[in-house]
Amino acid sequence: LATALSTAAFAQADLSGKVIGFSQIGSESGWRAAETSVTRSEAEARGVDLKFADAQQKQENQIKAIRGFIAQGVDAILMAPVVATGWDDVLAEAKEAEIPVVLLDRGIDAPEDLYLTSVASDQVLEGRVAGEWLVNEVGDEDCSVVELQGTVGSSPAINRKQGFEEGIASASNIKITQSQTGDFTRSKGKEVMEAFLKSSNGGADICAVYAHNDDMAVGAIQAIKDAGLKPGTDIKVVSIDGVPDIFTAIAAGEANATVELTPNMAGPALDALAAYWADGTEPEKFIITESKLYTAENDPQGEYDRRKGLGY
Ligand code: AHR
Repeated sequence: LATALSTAAFAQADLSGKVIGFSQIGSESGWRAAETSVTRSEAEARGVDLKFADAQQKQENQIKAIRGFIAQGVDAILMAPVVATGWDDVLAEAKEAEIPVVLLDRGIDAPEDLYLTSVASDQVLEGRVAGEWLVNEVGDEDCSVVELQGTVGSSPAINRKQGFEEGIASASNIKITQSQTGDFTRSKGKEVMEAFLKSSNGGADICAVYAHNDDMAVGAIQAIKDAGLKPGTDIKVVSIDGVPDIFTAIAAGEANATVELTPNMAGPALDALAAYWADGTEPEKFIITESKLYTAENDPQGEYDRRKGLGY
């Protein structure tokens, strides 16, 4: 496993003349929008002609887009796979056409020879970091957790659930009492949290919400406020991504912790492609980005300003 290094530290390879297709999932979250914009600017900085296709959360649209990229004869394909299964055929077609595919931010259940490399976080670790934070936070107190899962069948939903369960496994006082998908969106996160609150004595029986991304956490925060409770105090909030809105919520005491997911998956992906094209260097199969915990102690206002300065 390799650790992704900041591309800013290195001269970026000139990829002028290269045409790269990017099959993006959609725009379900603030993090996703940030990844799209960072990918565009990383491509532009290297002179890449980036062909962008928005799948609007549908795997069939992604498969269609990838077939379109193959038909156009692009030099490479970047793909953020919405779900983990069902990619073997289309990736075999890309391989047959000798077009390298790089996975961004989500994993797939497919033979590893069907893609050049995968640039993503360790999503099990992200969940574990969130769970371990909660264990430290609540100490010996009994704590009922409600969980907002990401998109059903997606690698982050599967792995962040597993990781969180591992993180709290040592604490018999912490239990997940309700768990449902909020599809990684703010509106669904709010809607599902409203239902959790209703079925938990108006929220009195909930100690914490664990959301698989910040957008669902922001939706949940609104639902908690609407129910007359104080998010961050009456109900603790922990999530994953590190988007500016969650830093605002942490600074306001309405969220407690987030695990950072960098939106810059494209920088390491394009660097891997550049090395591959230069002299055939095979990248590590899994390029793993950092998963850092942020709380009120890590200067959330400063993080908000810094992220805004980076354009997301
Ligand atoms: O695959 C990464 C996840 O997808 C992000 O955590 C979430 O915000 C996005 O929708």
